[in-house]
Amino acid sequence: MSKNPIFIEIKTKAKKASKAKSLSIMALTLLSTSAASTTAFIAVFFLLLGGSAASETEFSVEWDHEKLPKSDVDLLEFPLNLEYMEAEFFSWGALGRGLDSLAPNLTMGGPPPIGVRKAQLSPVIRDIIAQFAFQEFGHLRAIKSTVRGFPRPLLNLSAESFATVMNNAFEKPLEPSFDPYANDINYLLASYVIPYVGLTGYVGANPKLKTPTAKRLVAGLLGVESGQDAVLRALLYERAFVKVLPYDFTLAEFTDKISNLRNKLGKRGLKDEGLIVNPMLGAEGRIKGNVLAGDQYSLSYDRTPEEILRIVYGSGKENKPGGFYPKGADGKIAKSHLRHEEKRFNDNKL
Ligand SMILES: *[C@@H]1O[C@H](CO)[C@@H](O)[C@H](O)[C@H]1NC(C)=O
Ligand SMILES: *[C@@H]1O[C@H](CO)[C@@H](O)[C@H](O)[C@H]1NC(C)=O
Repeated sequence: MSKNPIFIEIKTKAKKASKAKSLSIMALTLLSTSAASTTAFIAVFFLLLGGSAASETEFSVEWDHEKLPKSDVDLLEFPLNLEYMEAEFFSWGALGRGLDSLAPNLTMGGPPPIGVRKAQLSPVIRDIIAQFAFQEFGHLRAIKSTVRGFPRPLLNLSAESFATVMNNAFEKPLEPSFDPYANDINYLLASYVIPYVGLTGYVGANPKLKTPTAKRLVAGLLGVESGQDAVLRALLYERAFVKVLPYDFTLAEFTDKISNLRNKLGKRGLKDEGLIVNPMLGAEGRIKGNVLAGDQYSLSYDRTPEEILRIVYGSGKENKPGGFYPKGADGKIAKSHLRHEEKRFNDNKL
């Protein structure tokens, strides 16, 4: 559906002057004289309903094919940050190329990621990761066909960036430093760092959404994101007691450390669990194998955007960028925290 400037104009006016009746007449005139598109019709219908609805609820006027409340727009845009990262990490890991070469429009002109590389993967793992990559491209398209979105933020996907996560997880530098791109196991462990965080974000966003359109989209994203997490966890689980060479730690120990780190950074208690747990944390409190993470009822944990920012920035603070997002995440929610920080910084300078 094409942009409809008339629609936007009507709504902007409706906000300024709430003279609903004259506007309704104006809109009716537009409707009968111009070739009315469905969006214009919906706008008119809305004004005729009383005109007050448009001025009471703040609707986003930027996008014309669906009226979403601003809060839904913000909650739908936020996960783009994670989807961009997954798209680039999986696409480069499997195919040695990212969005710039495979789907340049999806970047919306954002800078290319730092340090991302093709991983040394066996054919089956490469095939699975390539599928994940294209699934993420689809997710980017799905979100952007519903909300405007923003350009790809600067991403630091260098080996050092993942090595830093692992060092923080073990609370000491691993020797040699962890290389996510070195082999299947390392790449799967690095991937364990990613879709799960997105999944908890979708669970957290869902109860805050107001419209069926937004809920449908988030349910669809959540389904596939959980599927990816399950595939990764199952592949890792098969090798849970294998040592991650050359380190003296098993794969299960790595997942445990990574999950603990995320719990620590998120600052909202236990929302992340490794592959082998104290049976108290397993399903029904009765089993130590933990191929999927879940709460006491085996329901997925939820996280707020703030918890997610604390984790992906690696700083434990939603207003202190770093980690995978050297310049911070984008969108209204993430930016609001960065602005606070800038303001504090400037206030301190005065
Ligand atoms: C991608 O961008 C190019 C250049 O801006 C444009 O011509 C093309 O229509 C876009 N394709 C899609 C699918 O949006
Ligand atoms: C990327 O992350 C690594 C590890 O934290 C850091 O050493 C490097 O300076 C970062 N690069 C940029 C451009 O931020």
